[in-house]
Amino acid sequence: MENILEIKNLKVDFATFRGTAHVLDIEDLCVREGEIYGIAGESGSGKSILALSILNLITPPGRIAQGQVIFSGRDLLKLHPREMNGIRGEEIAMIFQDPMASLNPVLTVGQQMVITIRQHRKISAKEAEKEAKRRFEDVKLPDPDTTFKKYPHELSGGMRQRVLIALALSCGAKLLIADEATRALDVTIQAGILDLLRELRKNNGTTILLITNSLGVAAQMCDRVGILYTGKILEEAPVRDIFKKPSHPYTKALIDAVPTANLKDQRLPNIGGFVPDPIDLPAGCTFGPRCPHVMEVCRRTKPERIGIGPDHFASCHLAKKSGDDNG
Ligand SMILES: Nc1ncnc2c1ncn2[C@@H]1O[C@H](COP(=O)(O)OP(=O)(O)OP(=O)(O)O)[C@@H](O)[C@H]1O
Ligand SMILES: [Mg+2]
Repeated sequence: MENILEIKNLKVDFATFRGTAHVLDIEDLCVREGEIYGIAGESGSGKSILALSILNLITPPGRIAQGQVIFSGRDLLKLHPREMNGIRGEEIAMIFQDPMASLNPVLTVGQQMVITIRQHRKISAKEAEKEAKRRFEDVKLPDPDTTFKKYPHELSGGMRQRVLIALALSCGAKLLIADEATRALDVTIQAGILDLLRELRKNNGTTILLITNSLGVAAQMCDRVGILYTGKILEEAPVRDIFKKPSHPYTKALIDAVPTANLKDQRLPNIGGFVPDPIDLPAGCTFGPRCPHVMEVCRRTKPERIGIGPDHFASCHLAKKSGDDNG
């Protein structure tokens, strides 16, 4: 499978009155065409900043200090703002935790669909309305004719999220970034939205970057998962290996802390200790201060990304050591 998205050495900083906060440092992240790639991380690990960086939407006091975001062969960080506007929505769509914030409160959801559809295709308002209702059916919104005339506040959270997915669909986006799209929803409604995302991938081949702070959601949904901590991917693997053969002590601690019975909708658990301050990150491994296996080298030197197995990587001195020991 080809990579649709490649992120290389991407660093994002925030200027704060206490100093520079280093919130994102992604060495190498590739998303393959047609897969569901999960980013799992605790609150504050940099998930939303990653999503915003991909769309070049970081605004001051934040800045992309360096790096590349290559989408279908083009570096999005180098595009002219007008070209980037074309890509947002048309080729890459994003759905957020709070759908209300992405919908216009003074227009009906039908009007918003028609506007979006006609921005992308030269068709009449009547045709666009038909298309909008068809999309509402695709995302299983009840009674498309009635829904079409509703304002966002007249819909439930789950229905609003479906409208956003319909909007993303109607532009034919190849990549959908879902930033905790189900976090504000209750469990049954969450399951419905997750099913819908799965269908979207199956029927339209849409690639999905699924951002979550639930290991359960990652387990149910993803082909591969990256574990994010202090803006860095500490481990990446096919979903089964993340759970069966976790290599990074942070991943292990997360998995051990979740009772299996609760895996289904459990948020990432608290594993004890504190996440370091992004203004004053440890010199070596950022997980070192919380790691039960911390060694002298971990305090001094940043761990490299080490291959553990097929498609499986961990940034950990211990992983390197056991690799070396095994020959
Ligand atoms: N405007 C800002 N100024 C300074 N720091 C910021 C700003 N926005 C985000 N950050 C910092 O960037 C880091 C990552 O934030 P981000 O919103 O990406 O976290 P997240 O993983 O999405 O968390 P959550 O699960 O709570 O949504 C955090 O340490 C946060 O404090
Ligand atoms: Mg977030």
